[in-house]
Amino acid sequence: MAANHRTAPRYAHVVGWGMAVPDRVLTNLDLEAIVDTSDTWIRERTGIRERRIAGEDESTASLSFAAARQALEVADVLPSELDMIIVATSTPEHIFPSTASLIQDWLGASTAGAFDLSAACTGFIYALNMAAQAIISGSIDTALVVGAETMSRLLDWEDRTTCILFGDGAGAVVVRGSEMPGGVLSNVLRSDGSGCDLLGVPTVGSRDAAVPDAGLPRDGTRPPMHKMYMNGREVFRFATRVMKDSVLEAVEKAGLTMDDIDWIVPHQANQRIIARAAKNLNLPEERFISNLDRYGNTSAASIPIALCEAVNDGRIQPEQYLVLVGFGGGLTWGAMVLQWGVAGPAEQTAIKRYRREFSYTVARTRSRFSRTLRRLAELLNRSPLGGLYRFFDRLPHDASDQEGSS
Ligand code: UT7
Repeated sequence: MAANHRTAPRYAHVVGWGMAVPDRVLTNLDLEAIVDTSDTWIRERTGIRERRIAGEDESTASLSFAAARQALEVADVLPSELDMIIVATSTPEHIFPSTASLIQDWLGASTAGAFDLSAACTGFIYALNMAAQAIISGSIDTALVVGAETMSRLLDWEDRTTCILFGDGAGAVVVRGSEMPGGVLSNVLRSDGSGCDLLGVPTVGSRDAAVPDAGLPRDGTRPPMHKMYMNGREVFRFATRVMKDSVLEAVEKAGLTMDDIDWIVPHQANQRIIARAAKNLNLPEERFISNLDRYGNTSAASIPIALCEAVNDGRIQPEQYLVLVGFGGGLTWGAMVLQWGVAGPAEQTAIKRYRREFSYTVARTRSRFSRTLRRLAELLNRSPLGGLYRFFDRLPHDASDQEGSS
């Protein structure tokens, strides 16, 4: 953990990146057998050809974990070096505990704080900004930021206007403090909650827990519980407007002009939205990183997955300026200017690789051991020996306990 009183300027650089998508591919032709749609309609109206769908054993946490491991590998960072883990997701493993806490446990990142962040498809930009600002302020040194979703679990597979669009996956980055100028240079984060009815998932929460689930007619008066609903046309209009405005604002805040920008890494929702944004910004569409033909819309995972692929195939190079831009439910939107700082994966140290693998193995064992110990303590507490156990448990364990109780 970094000291809070630094004097030299601090920058937050992405030094590791990783992604994970399920093996199962669902093509447009496959979808023709599920809903009244066609490969031609989907390709022409969205640009999507196929998407990945999580298998029974896969989940938001398992995909996050796989992407996180890759990102740590690329950065050659140990789980024990992480100060903060943020998972941006709208499809968390549970309402709580957070998916980030599960990742913290599975990695063995024993000195990291962990929380989930909910800003729908804009979540990764929000999360990366939170981590970067904590690094720039000097309060932490190293963070893991994940965008991950298993949208397929919440899709209404009878609604052709939504189920054809989304896919599952995760992308992760390791962000580190440095005195080298660059990294995250500016941010624009926005929300307009008046658009909360345009897309969402009514599910267990303080409002919806009491709403009966099954047996309601599909009469269009309310969206089905636990299923995504969306007003596609309105979201389309909103997306094209905010993409242009937020990109221009983020670039200006970074003290740059559009001529300085090498790549735009947009949220992957629809190729027509990307084309419209390119036209509005007067940029060639080739300057926008796009892979939605292969993955569809993976919500909070789409930007880190696109970023990861573009770094791995050599399109993104050191010192280039990128703009990440996203939009989605909330409504939320945001953009961020990033100057890329590293030429490729960090030089791997065998000892760190070994210690990472060891950390993952030990983490699983330690976690099981802690749970077993807690259960044993509970059993002992309830047994006839409980009085004796409680007596010893109340004794001060060390000097700090004594200080605290005085
Ligand atoms: O991650 C952020 C959230 N999501 C988005 O950013 C999505 C934003 N919106 C969109 O990408 C587009 O609005 C959609 C792809 C969802 C829809 O495309 P569109 O060009 O706006 O279509 P539309 O809603 O205007 O519908 C045109 C027609 C309709 O038929 P009628 O009323 O003209 O007879 C729809 O019923 O296309 C029909 N349609 C379909 N036809 C075949 C809608 N979905 C399908 C489908 N297959 N899957």
